[in-house]
Amino acid sequence: MIKPCQGANDREKAALGLDSGAGGFLNCRGVSGLTAPQGESPPKGLTKMTGQTEDRAGDGRMNVSGLLEVHNLTKKFGPLTAVDDLSFSVAQGEVVGFLGPNGAGKSTTMRMIAGFLAPTAGRVRVCGHDVVEKPIEIKTCIGYLPEGAPLYGDMTAKALLNFVAEIRGFRGAERRRRIDDVVAKVNLEEALYQPIETLSKGFKRRVGLAQAILHDPELLVLDEPTDGLDPNQKHEVRELLRSMASDKAIIISTHILEEVDAVCTRAMIIARGRLLIDGTPEDLRASAKGAESLDDVFRAITTRAVVDEGRVEKSA
Ligand SMILES: Nc1ncnc2c1ncn2[C@@H]1O[C@H](COP(=O)(O)OP(=O)(O)OP(=O)(O)O)[C@@H](O)[C@H]1O
Ligand SMILES: [Mg+2]
Repeated sequence: MIKPCQGANDREKAALGLDSGAGGFLNCRGVSGLTAPQGESPPKGLTKMTGQTEDRAGDGRMNVSGLLEVHNLTKKFGPLTAVDDLSFSVAQGEVVGFLGPNGAGKSTTMRMIAGFLAPTAGRVRVCGHDVVEKPIEIKTCIGYLPEGAPLYGDMTAKALLNFVAEIRGFRGAERRRRIDDVVAKVNLEEALYQPIETLSKGFKRRVGLAQAILHDPELLVLDEPTDGLDPNQKHEVRELLRSMASDKAIIISTHILEEVDAVCTRAMIIARGRLLIDGTPEDLRASAKGAESLDDVFRAITTRAVVDEGRVEKSA
């Protein structure tokens, strides 16, 4: 009997293929028509863009260059509005840093993007599919690393990766190749045969990252991917993200602002569920006068900024 780690979220475990009720994910890798073949131009009539999708691909999918599209997304927990009318899109080749103070709504937004939490209002499209309408299809093209480590503690890392690979439909040599590949990418070799519950925090994080990239997804949603990693491993993960960036859309939440300069092409800052600013790291610096570092910008924007129809102004 597989025993979940404490604090694991059932729906997140299911999505990792860690739930006995995850039959719906079997062979989901094989769902066809989710992505344009690599190297091919977008279908005729569609424009490559970093903003919103403008057209349909004729087969019901939206333009895949906007791999993630979030429209007026809202989540309420009783009286609390955790995510408040958030809209943005992320295109292939972008690495977006998703920043904000504790409780800003980052993880809640990511959970809705990955399909683990139903929005109160608004919608999310992943690889052209509506997350609520097509929950299985979106899991073929999304890799999600949840906050914390919702993994089965009494499985070894190797057993877990085998299980996830099988659930995703990989067999035989292909499965072995994929596992060997991700194990090397996240430097997991020395911890492969140890029960996950006995792993250090950083190694648990590496297992989580390995399962998120095992199927080479087009969209990566990583909730604090370097949390708990030592400096060497942080560096390795940033290198890994950089190496994967060109053919994926990546969104990472982080409190480590040097990470934004290290890997992100763009950054968004939210507070109280609302988008305060969205731009390149240079844009962010320019937005707060006198700010020397992104930490200064973050403090200026999140403590003193007021939002005025998308424009950020420093309050007196
Ligand atoms: N299931 C839930 N029920 C009630 N409130 C929730 C739930 N999940 C999140 N919240 C609340 O929603 C708000 C946003 O939380 P969220 O975890 O998204 O923040 P965050 O930006 O990820 O913060 P952190 O940087 O600390 O990880 C918080 O006030 C949190 O307490
Ligand atoms: Mg969080």
